[in-house]
Amino acid sequence: MHAPRRNSPRAGLWAMPTALALLLATGCGSGDGDPAPPSPSQSTGPSPTAPGERTMRQLAEERGKYMGVAVDADALGEESPYPRLAGEQFGMLTAENAMKWPQTERSPGSTSYEDADRVVDFAKRHRQRLRGHALTWNTHEPQWLSAQKFSDERIGELLREHVQDEAGRYKGAIYAWDVVNEPLTGKGTLKPGTLLDALGPDYIADSLRWAHQADPDARLYLNEFGAEGIGPKSDGLYRLAKSLKEKGVPLHGIGFESHFELGKVPKDMRQNMERFTALGLEVAVTELDVRMRTPATDDALERQAEDYASVIRTCLNVEKCVGVSFWNLHDGASHVPKKRPGWGAAHAYDAQYRPKPAREAVAEALTEEGG
Ligand code: G3I
Repeated sequence: MHAPRRNSPRAGLWAMPTALALLLATGCGSGDGDPAPPSPSQSTGPSPTAPGERTMRQLAEERGKYMGVAVDADALGEESPYPRLAGEQFGMLTAENAMKWPQTERSPGSTSYEDADRVVDFAKRHRQRLRGHALTWNTHEPQWLSAQKFSDERIGELLREHVQDEAGRYKGAIYAWDVVNEPLTGKGTLKPGTLLDALGPDYIADSLRWAHQADPDARLYLNEFGAEGIGPKSDGLYRLAKSLKEKGVPLHGIGFESHFELGKVPKDMRQNMERFTALGLEVAVTELDVRMRTPATDDALERQAEDYASVIRTCLNVEKCVGVSFWNLHDGASHVPKKRPGWGAAHAYDAQYRPKPAREAVAEALTEEGG
Protein backbone atom coordinates (compact mmCIF):
# COMPACT_ATOMS: atom_id res chain seq x y z
CA MET A 1 0.00 0.00 0.00
CA HIS A 2 1.08 3.55 -0.51
CA ALA A 3 1.97 5.73 2.44
CA PRO A 4 -0.88 8.05 3.46
CA ARG A 5 -0.56 11.56 2.10
CA ARG A 6 1.06 14.02 4.47
CA ASN A 7 -1.31 16.65 5.84
CA SER A 8 -4.19 14.83 4.25
CA PRO A 9 -7.47 16.14 5.73
CA ARG A 10 -9.29 12.90 5.06
CA ALA A 11 -12.03 13.71 7.53
CA GLY A 12 -13.18 16.63 5.40
CA LEU A 13 -12.48 15.02 2.11
CA TRP A 14 -15.48 12.79 1.77
CA ALA A 15 -17.82 14.99 3.79
CA MET A 16 -21.28 15.61 2.39
CA PRO A 17 -21.51 18.68 0.17
CA THR A 18 -22.67 21.97 1.57
CA ALA A 19 -25.93 23.51 0.41
CA LEU A 20 -23.91 25.79 -1.83
CA ALA A 21 -22.15 22.85 -3.41
CA LEU A 22 -25.49 21.17 -3.98
CA LEU A 23 -26.79 24.27 -5.71
CA LEU A 24 -23.67 24.34 -7.88
CA ALA A 25 -24.08 20.68 -8.63
CA THR A 26 -27.58 21.17 -9.94
CA GLY A 27 -26.68 24.22 -11.97
CA CYS A 28 -23.24 23.49 -13.38
CA GLY A 29 -22.32 21.36 -16.33
CA SER A 30 -19.12 21.24 -18.27
CA GLY A 31 -19.98 23.40 -21.19
CA ASP A 32 -23.17 23.00 -23.18
CA GLY A 33 -25.93 20.49 -22.57
CA ASP A 34 -27.19 18.79 -19.48
CA PRO A 35 -24.74 17.87 -16.81
CA ALA A 36 -24.64 14.12 -16.57
CA PRO A 37 -25.64 13.19 -13.02
CA PRO A 38 -23.60 10.49 -11.38
CA SER A 39 -25.23 7.19 -12.05
CA PRO A 40 -24.76 3.84 -10.38
CA SER A 41 -22.28 1.76 -12.30
CA GLN A 42 -23.80 -0.72 -14.69
CA SER A 43 -20.56 -2.60 -15.09
CA THR A 44 -19.83 -5.94 -13.63
CA GLY A 45 -16.70 -6.72 -11.65
CA PRO A 46 -15.54 -5.61 -8.25
CA SER A 47 -15.77 -1.92 -7.43
CA PRO A 48 -12.70 -0.24 -5.96
CA THR A 49 -14.85 2.74 -4.97
CA ALA A 50 -15.37 2.61 -1.20
CA PRO A 51 -18.99 2.70 0.03
CA GLY A 52 -20.04 6.31 0.53
CA GLU A 53 -16.93 7.66 -1.20
CA ARG A 54 -17.60 10.73 -3.30
CA THR A 55 -16.22 10.19 -6.75
CA MET A 56 -13.95 12.51 -8.69
CA ARG A 57 -16.82 12.80 -11.13
CA GLN A 58 -19.17 14.15 -8.48
CA LEU A 59 -16.59 16.46 -6.97
CA ALA A 60 -15.65 17.93 -10.36
CA GLU A 61 -19.25 18.41 -11.44
CA GLU A 62 -19.93 20.31 -8.26
CA ARG A 63 -17.22 22.72 -9.41
CA GLY A 64 -18.67 23.01 -12.92
CA LYS A 65 -15.90 20.90 -14.46
CA TYR A 66 -15.56 17.34 -15.62
CA MET A 67 -13.06 14.63 -14.81
CA GLY A 68 -12.28 12.34 -17.70
CA VAL A 69 -10.10 9.40 -18.63
CA ALA A 70 -8.75 7.74 -21.76
CA VAL A 71 -10.02 4.19 -22.03
CA ASP A 72 -9.23 1.05 -23.92
CA ALA A 73 -12.27 -0.43 -25.68
CA ASP A 74 -11.36 -4.03 -24.78
CA ALA A 75 -10.68 -3.23 -21.12
CA LEU A 76 -14.18 -1.75 -20.76
CA GLY A 77 -15.53 -5.28 -21.24
CA GLU A 78 -13.22 -6.91 -18.72
CA GLU A 79 -14.31 -8.63 -15.53
CA SER A 80 -11.97 -6.40 -13.58
CA PRO A 81 -12.15 -3.15 -11.65
CA TYR A 82 -11.36 -1.31 -14.90
CA PRO A 83 -14.92 -0.75 -16.15
CA ARG A 84 -16.20 -0.05 -12.66
CA LEU A 85 -13.62 2.65 -12.06
CA ALA A 86 -14.04 4.13 -15.52
CA GLY A 87 -17.82 4.21 -15.11
CA GLU A 88 -17.93 5.50 -11.56
CA GLN A 89 -15.10 7.98 -11.21
CA PHE A 90 -15.30 9.89 -14.48
CA GLY A 91 -17.93 11.97 -16.26
CA MET A 92 -16.04 12.09 -19.56
CA LEU A 93 -14.41 9.35 -21.62
CA THR A 94 -11.88 9.50 -24.43
CA ALA A 95 -11.16 6.44 -26.56
CA GLU A 96 -7.40 5.98 -26.21
CA ASN A 97 -7.07 4.57 -29.72
CA ALA A 98 -10.42 3.32 -31.02
CA MET A 99 -11.44 6.48 -32.86
CA LYS A 100 -8.11 7.13 -34.58
CA TRP A 101 -8.06 6.94 -38.35
CA PRO A 102 -5.65 3.95 -38.56
CA GLN A 103 -8.08 2.01 -36.34
CA THR A 104 -11.33 3.02 -38.06
CA GLU A 105 -10.21 2.64 -41.69
CA ARG A 106 -7.72 -0.17 -42.00
CA SER A 107 -7.80 -0.06 -45.79
CA PRO A 108 -9.16 2.68 -48.06
CA GLY A 109 -12.94 2.86 -47.89
CA SER A 110 -13.22 -0.06 -45.45
CA THR A 111 -14.34 1.31 -42.12
CA SER A 112 -14.61 -0.57 -38.85
CA TYR A 113 -16.11 1.26 -35.91
CA GLU A 114 -16.77 -1.70 -33.60
CA ASP A 115 -14.24 -0.65 -30.96
CA ALA A 116 -15.28 2.99 -31.10
CA ASP A 117 -18.94 1.98 -30.84
CA ARG A 118 -18.20 0.01 -27.68
CA VAL A 119 -16.71 3.09 -26.04
CA VAL A 120 -19.69 5.19 -27.13
CA ASP A 121 -22.15 2.57 -25.81
CA PHE A 122 -20.32 2.35 -22.49
CA ALA A 123 -20.45 6.12 -22.10
CA LYS A 124 -24.16 6.19 -22.89
CA ARG A 125 -24.89 3.48 -20.31
CA HIS A 126 -22.95 5.41 -17.70
CA ARG A 127 -24.36 8.78 -18.71
CA GLN A 128 -20.90 10.06 -19.52
CA ARG A 129 -19.80 12.61 -22.07
CA LEU A 130 -17.26 11.78 -24.76
CA ARG A 131 -14.23 13.49 -26.16
CA GLY A 132 -13.63 12.23 -29.67
CA HIS A 133 -9.93 11.59 -30.32
CA ALA A 134 -8.67 12.30 -32.94
CA LEU A 135 -9.86 12.97 -36.48
CA THR A 136 -6.77 14.40 -38.19
CA TRP A 137 -3.22 13.59 -37.11
CA ASN A 138 -0.59 14.56 -39.59
CA THR A 139 2.00 12.08 -38.35
CA HIS A 140 -0.33 9.19 -37.46
CA GLU A 141 -2.39 8.77 -40.58
CA PRO A 142 -3.15 5.20 -41.74
CA GLN A 143 -0.11 3.43 -43.08
CA TRP A 144 -1.88 2.81 -46.41
CA LEU A 145 -2.32 6.55 -46.95
CA SER A 146 1.40 7.25 -47.11
CA ALA A 147 2.36 3.86 -48.59
CA GLN A 148 0.16 4.15 -51.65
CA LYS A 149 0.99 6.78 -54.21
CA PHE A 150 -2.19 8.85 -54.03
CA SER A 151 -2.34 12.23 -55.72
CA ASP A 152 -2.51 15.22 -53.39
CA GLU A 153 -6.09 15.77 -54.50
CA ARG A 154 -7.03 12.19 -53.63
CA ILE A 155 -5.40 12.53 -50.20
CA GLY A 156 -7.61 15.58 -49.62
CA GLU A 157 -10.71 13.59 -50.62
CA LEU A 158 -9.77 10.67 -48.39
CA LEU A 159 -9.24 12.99 -45.44
CA ARG A 160 -12.55 14.76 -46.03
CA GLU A 161 -14.42 11.47 -46.35
CA HIS A 162 -12.82 10.19 -43.15
CA VAL A 163 -13.59 13.32 -41.12
CA GLN A 164 -17.16 13.60 -42.36
CA ASP A 165 -17.87 9.89 -42.01
CA GLU A 166 -16.58 9.57 -38.45
CA ALA A 167 -17.82 12.90 -37.12
CA GLY A 168 -21.18 12.22 -38.81
CA ARG A 169 -21.44 8.72 -37.38
CA TYR A 170 -21.12 10.04 -33.85
CA LYS A 171 -23.09 13.22 -34.39
CA GLY A 172 -24.77 14.18 -31.15
CA ALA A 173 -22.77 11.70 -29.07
CA ILE A 174 -19.56 13.72 -28.82
CA TYR A 175 -19.09 16.70 -26.53
CA ALA A 176 -15.80 17.70 -28.13
CA TRP A 177 -13.61 16.43 -30.93
CA ASP A 178 -9.85 16.67 -31.01
CA VAL A 179 -10.14 17.52 -34.67
CA VAL A 180 -6.48 18.23 -35.29
CA ASN A 181 -4.00 16.43 -33.10
CA GLU A 182 -0.43 17.58 -32.47
CA PRO A 183 0.05 19.79 -35.53
CA LEU A 184 3.19 21.57 -34.30
CA THR A 185 6.94 21.09 -33.94
CA GLY A 186 8.76 22.09 -30.77
CA LYS A 187 9.53 25.40 -32.42
CA GLY A 188 5.85 26.12 -32.99
CA THR A 189 5.93 25.59 -36.75
CA LEU A 190 3.66 23.18 -38.62
CA LYS A 191 4.95 19.64 -38.33
CA PRO A 192 5.85 17.96 -41.61
CA GLY A 193 3.86 14.85 -42.51
CA THR A 194 1.70 13.32 -45.20
CA LEU A 195 -1.20 15.73 -44.78
CA LEU A 196 0.84 18.94 -44.58
CA ASP A 197 2.99 17.82 -47.51
CA ALA A 198 -0.02 17.00 -49.69
CA LEU A 199 -2.51 19.64 -48.66
CA GLY A 200 -0.52 22.48 -47.18
CA PRO A 201 -1.51 24.33 -43.98
CA ASP A 202 -5.18 24.37 -45.05
CA TYR A 203 -5.58 20.76 -43.94
CA ILE A 204 -6.16 22.18 -40.44
CA ALA A 205 -8.92 24.68 -41.31
CA ASP A 206 -10.51 22.22 -43.75
CA SER A 207 -10.63 19.46 -41.12
CA LEU A 208 -12.34 21.83 -38.68
CA ARG A 209 -14.88 22.92 -41.31
CA TRP A 210 -15.67 19.34 -42.37
CA ALA A 211 -16.11 18.28 -38.75
CA HIS A 212 -18.40 21.22 -38.12
CA GLN A 213 -20.54 20.36 -41.14
CA ALA A 214 -20.84 16.77 -39.93
CA ASP A 215 -21.60 17.57 -36.27
CA PRO A 216 -22.49 21.25 -35.78
CA ASP A 217 -22.99 20.90 -32.02
CA ALA A 218 -19.62 19.35 -31.17
CA ARG A 219 -16.92 21.54 -29.66
CA LEU A 220 -13.94 21.42 -32.02
CA TYR A 221 -10.40 21.43 -30.66
CA LEU A 222 -6.76 21.59 -31.57
CA ASN A 223 -4.95 19.20 -29.22
CA GLU A 224 -1.24 19.57 -28.53
CA PHE A 225 1.49 18.33 -26.19
CA GLY A 226 4.35 20.38 -24.75
CA ALA A 227 2.39 23.61 -25.12
CA GLU A 228 1.18 23.83 -21.52
CA GLY A 229 3.58 26.59 -20.52
CA ILE A 230 4.54 29.72 -22.40
CA GLY A 231 7.30 29.09 -24.94
CA PRO A 232 7.98 28.72 -28.66
CA LYS A 233 5.55 25.83 -29.12
CA SER A 234 2.63 27.41 -27.30
CA ASP A 235 3.41 30.71 -29.06
CA GLY A 236 3.02 28.85 -32.36
CA LEU A 237 -0.21 27.29 -31.14
CA TYR A 238 -1.47 30.71 -30.10
CA ARG A 239 -0.67 32.18 -33.53
CA LEU A 240 -2.40 29.25 -35.23
CA ALA A 241 -5.52 29.48 -33.04
CA LYS A 242 -5.70 33.26 -33.46
CA SER A 243 -5.44 33.09 -37.22
CA LEU A 244 -8.09 30.36 -37.43
CA LYS A 245 -10.45 32.43 -35.26
CA GLU A 246 -9.80 35.53 -37.36
CA LYS A 247 -10.70 33.60 -40.51
CA GLY A 248 -13.96 32.42 -38.94
CA VAL A 249 -12.91 28.77 -38.91
CA PRO A 250 -15.02 26.75 -36.44
CA LEU A 251 -12.50 26.30 -33.64
CA HIS A 252 -13.88 26.19 -30.11
CA GLY A 253 -11.15 24.92 -27.87
CA ILE A 254 -7.55 24.04 -27.16
CA GLY A 255 -6.56 20.77 -25.55
CA PHE A 256 -3.41 20.87 -23.47
CA GLU A 257 -2.36 17.25 -23.28
CA SER A 258 -0.22 17.60 -20.14
CA HIS A 259 2.06 14.58 -20.24
CA PHE A 260 4.43 15.75 -17.54
CA GLU A 261 7.66 14.55 -16.05
CA LEU A 262 7.62 14.61 -12.24
CA GLY A 263 8.11 18.13 -10.90
CA LYS A 264 7.83 19.78 -14.31
CA VAL A 265 4.30 21.18 -14.39
CA PRO A 266 4.86 24.68 -15.83
CA LYS A 267 4.28 27.47 -13.34
CA ASP A 268 2.73 29.63 -16.05
CA MET A 269 0.14 27.09 -17.19
CA ARG A 270 -2.74 29.25 -15.98
CA GLN A 271 -1.34 32.36 -17.67
CA ASN A 272 -0.87 30.37 -20.86
CA MET A 273 -4.43 29.00 -20.78
CA GLU A 274 -5.79 32.48 -20.20
CA ARG A 275 -4.27 33.93 -23.34
CA PHE A 276 -6.16 31.27 -25.30
CA THR A 277 -9.43 31.85 -23.46
CA ALA A 278 -8.98 35.56 -24.23
CA LEU A 279 -9.37 34.57 -27.88
CA GLY A 280 -12.86 33.30 -27.06
CA LEU A 281 -11.80 29.67 -26.80
CA GLU A 282 -12.44 27.12 -24.09
CA VAL A 283 -9.52 25.01 -22.89
CA ALA A 284 -9.17 21.53 -21.41
CA VAL A 285 -6.48 19.37 -19.93
CA THR A 286 -6.91 16.39 -22.22
CA GLU A 287 -4.25 13.77 -21.36
CA LEU A 288 -2.83 14.29 -17.90
CA ASP A 289 -0.17 11.97 -16.56
CA VAL A 290 2.94 12.53 -14.45
CA ARG A 291 5.72 10.05 -15.14
CA MET A 292 8.63 9.18 -12.89
CA ARG A 293 11.59 6.85 -12.89
CA THR A 294 10.51 3.37 -11.86
CA PRO A 295 10.35 1.75 -9.40
CA ALA A 296 8.44 4.58 -7.75
CA THR A 297 9.40 5.76 -4.27
CA ASP A 298 6.95 7.04 -1.64
CA ASP A 299 8.57 10.45 -1.90
CA ALA A 300 8.13 10.56 -5.67
CA LEU A 301 4.48 9.52 -5.31
CA GLU A 302 3.93 12.39 -2.87
CA ARG A 303 5.50 14.85 -5.27
CA GLN A 304 3.42 13.38 -8.07
CA ALA A 305 0.32 14.05 -5.98
CA GLU A 306 1.31 17.71 -5.75
CA ASP A 307 1.74 17.86 -9.51
CA TYR A 308 -1.70 16.37 -10.10
CA ALA A 309 -3.27 18.77 -7.61
CA SER A 310 -1.60 21.78 -9.18
CA VAL A 311 -3.06 20.93 -12.59
CA ILE A 312 -6.51 20.52 -11.07
CA ARG A 313 -6.18 23.88 -9.31
CA THR A 314 -5.08 25.52 -12.55
CA CYS A 315 -8.19 24.29 -14.33
CA LEU A 316 -10.39 25.36 -11.41
CA ASN A 317 -8.84 28.82 -11.59
CA VAL A 318 -9.44 29.27 -15.30
CA GLU A 319 -13.12 29.87 -15.81
CA LYS A 320 -13.17 28.52 -19.34
CA CYS A 321 -11.17 25.42 -18.52
CA VAL A 322 -13.93 22.83 -18.89
CA GLY A 323 -12.23 19.83 -17.35
CA VAL A 324 -9.31 17.50 -16.86
CA SER A 325 -8.85 14.06 -18.40
CA PHE A 326 -6.30 11.46 -17.35
CA TRP A 327 -4.34 9.41 -19.88
CA ASN A 328 -4.68 6.33 -18.71
CA LEU A 329 -6.74 4.90 -15.89
CA HIS A 330 -4.04 3.02 -13.98
CA ASP A 331 -0.35 2.15 -14.01
CA GLY A 332 -1.03 -1.32 -15.39
CA ALA A 333 -2.58 0.10 -18.56
CA SER A 334 -0.05 2.83 -19.13
CA HIS A 335 1.24 4.08 -22.45
CA VAL A 336 4.33 5.48 -20.70
CA PRO A 337 6.69 2.49 -20.28
CA LYS A 338 5.97 1.31 -23.81
CA LYS A 339 7.32 4.58 -25.13
CA ARG A 340 9.87 5.37 -22.42
CA PRO A 341 11.38 2.27 -20.81
CA GLY A 342 12.43 2.95 -17.21
CA TRP A 343 9.64 5.49 -16.74
CA GLY A 344 6.10 4.93 -15.54
CA ALA A 345 3.90 4.98 -12.42
CA ALA A 346 2.32 7.98 -14.09
CA HIS A 347 -1.33 7.55 -13.18
CA ALA A 348 -3.71 8.07 -10.28
CA TYR A 349 -4.34 4.37 -9.63
CA ASP A 350 -1.64 1.72 -9.36
CA ALA A 351 -1.50 -1.49 -11.37
CA GLN A 352 -3.74 -3.19 -8.75
CA TYR A 353 -6.30 -0.37 -9.12
CA ARG A 354 -5.48 1.04 -5.69
CA PRO A 355 -5.81 4.80 -5.41
CA LYS A 356 -2.42 6.49 -5.20
CA PRO A 357 -1.66 9.73 -3.36
CA ALA A 358 -2.36 11.51 -6.65
CA ARG A 359 -5.95 10.26 -6.61
CA GLU A 360 -6.42 11.62 -3.13
CA ALA A 361 -4.76 14.93 -3.99
CA VAL A 362 -7.10 15.39 -6.95
CA ALA A 363 -10.13 14.94 -4.70
CA GLU A 364 -8.66 17.34 -2.16
CA ALA A 365 -7.98 19.99 -4.80
CA LEU A 366 -11.52 19.62 -6.10
CA THR A 367 -12.90 20.27 -2.63
CA GLU A 368 -10.68 23.19 -1.69
CA GLU A 369 -12.37 26.47 -0.96
CA GLY A 370 -11.90 29.37 -3.33
CA GLY A 371 -10.16 27.50 -6.17
O1 G3I B 1 -3.59 -1.24 -34.36
C1 G3I B 1 -2.63 -2.19 -33.97
C2 G3I B 1 -3.30 -3.47 -33.66
O2 G3I B 1 -3.96 -3.96 -34.79
C3 G3I B 1 -2.26 -4.45 -33.14
O3 G3I B 1 -2.94 -5.58 -32.66
C4 G3I B 1 -1.43 -3.85 -32.01
C5 G3I B 1 -0.31 -4.76 -31.59
O4 G3I B 1 0.64 -4.06 -30.82
O5 G3I B 1 -0.89 -2.63 -32.43
C6 G3I B 1 -1.95 -1.77 -32.70
O6 G3I B 1 -1.67 -0.41 -32.80
C7 G3I B 1 -1.10 0.21 -31.68
C8 G3I B 1 -2.14 1.07 -30.94
O7 G3I B 1 -1.52 1.84 -29.93
C9 G3I B 1 -3.25 0.24 -30.30
O8 G3I B 1 -2.72 -0.60 -29.34
C10 G3I B 1 0.02 1.09 -32.20
O9 G3I B 1 1.04 0.26 -32.71
C11 G3I B 1 0.55 1.98 -31.11
O10 G3I B 1 1.45 2.92 -31.72
C12 G3I B 1 -0.59 2.75 -30.47
O11 G3I B 1 -0.05 3.59 -29.48
C13 G3I B 1 -0.90 4.66 -29.06
C14 G3I B 1 -0.31 6.00 -29.51
O12 G3I B 1 -1.10 7.06 -29.00
C15 G3I B 1 -0.31 6.14 -31.04
O13 G3I B 1 -1.60 6.09 -31.57
C16 G3I B 1 -1.00 4.62 -27.54
O14 G3I B 1 -1.69 3.42 -27.14
C17 G3I B 1 -1.77 5.83 -27.03
O15 G3I B 1 -1.74 5.88 -25.62
C18 G3I B 1 -1.12 7.09 -27.58
O16 G3I B 1 -1.90 8.19 -27.18
C19 G3I B 1 -1.38 9.45 -27.54
C20 G3I B 1 -2.55 10.33 -27.95
O17 G3I B 1 -3.28 9.68 -28.97
C21 G3I B 1 -2.06 11.70 -28.41
N1 G3I B 1 -1.21 12.31 -27.42
C22 G3I B 1 -0.11 11.50 -26.89
C23 G3I B 1 -0.65 10.17 -26.38
C24 G3I B 1 0.45 9.32 -25.74
O18 G3I B 1 1.46 9.02 -26.64
